[in-house]
Amino acid sequence: MNTILAIESSCDETSASIIQEGRVLTNIVATQSVHEKYGGVVPELASRAHQQNIIPVVHQALTEAGITKKDLNAVAFTRGPGLLGALLVGTSFAKSFALALNIPLIEVNHMQAHVLAHFIDKPNPQFPFLCLTVSGGHTQIILVKNYLDMEIIGETVDDAVGEAFDKTAKILGFPYPGGVWIDKYAQNGNPHAYAFPDLKNKDLNYSFSGIKTAFLNFFRKKVQRNPDFISENLNDICASIQHTLIRILMQKLIQASEEYQISEIAIAGGVSANSGLRTTLQKTAQEKNWNIYIPDFQFCTDNAGMIAMAAHYKYLAKDFCGQEVSPMPRMRF
Ligand code: KG4
Ligand code: ZN
Repeated sequence: MNTILAIESSCDETSASIIQEGRVLTNIVATQSVHEKYGGVVPELASRAHQQNIIPVVHQALTEAGITKKDLNAVAFTRGPGLLGALLVGTSFAKSFALALNIPLIEVNHMQAHVLAHFIDKPNPQFPFLCLTVSGGHTQIILVKNYLDMEIIGETVDDAVGEAFDKTAKILGFPYPGGVWIDKYAQNGNPHAYAFPDLKNKDLNYSFSGIKTAFLNFFRKKVQRNPDFISENLNDICASIQHTLIRILMQKLIQASEEYQISEIAIAGGVSANSGLRTTLQKTAQEKNWNIYIPDFQFCTDNAGMIAMAAHYKYLAKDFCGQEVSPMPRMRF
């Protein structure tokens, strides 16, 4: 029976999970609230919080799964992409644990793990499928050929969509991470109240820095004329911003589905928790005859359950790494 402890520490969530024979038994996540007031993740504070959280989180994951250290067959960790200091905490911890227990070590790519979150619960997508992976650090369309065989066919050339949500939310006065607040206020607003431009490029890549500037200039002009513009129109502003970002995401996803003739479509990453994106995806699926896959909420944002799922497939493939392994903040696959 293979039992693996997996650790995630790439950004601002310290998480540990136990997986046994491909079944996630526990998924413990400690969210770092220390960043809220700064409007973004402060790397140094993230590393320190990971150091404080990692032992309690691992302890809880083991205890709640009814597993002892002796039952473990491997230890997995997120090698990248992510913040160097944050990754270092999980990497060092996993290395020491594996060394002390004399069991194999498994390095996991965080983005690959977001995709493999689709295999934690059923129904699972059929290969090949497309996965729109949208988070605070990434926006990618991934062609998934098999569990460990993936190709990025489109990605952002500048900001991630989560960053566009969070930075706009900051201007609107919301705490970090602001995506969830825009989502909340958008539910009572008119998505067509304010119009913003589409992307002009013909390939499958995204760009969100231009649209972020368009939002900024729009607010500046409106607030100059009416200082209360934002508070008076918050619902409509949030709905229009969210609608624009979702429209951009969907345009390229539809294009990718047509170019690759694939109608198995999944979404993953923190932004896939967005209720507007979920509804739009469901509507598009009906129109285009897509089979769509959206992970359970707890497996959308950063979590070690998805790292554990990736580790399970790597364990079956005997894809282990040595003690010399170090974090890769810009890891690709
Ligand atoms: O995958 P994730 O937890 O961490 C990264 O790897 O970045 O994604 C975090 C991102 C943040 O930008 C956050 O604002 C966004 O996911 N997010 C949302 C929602 N929930 C989380 N964005 C829009 N609507 C939401 N409901
Ligand atoms: Zn992530």
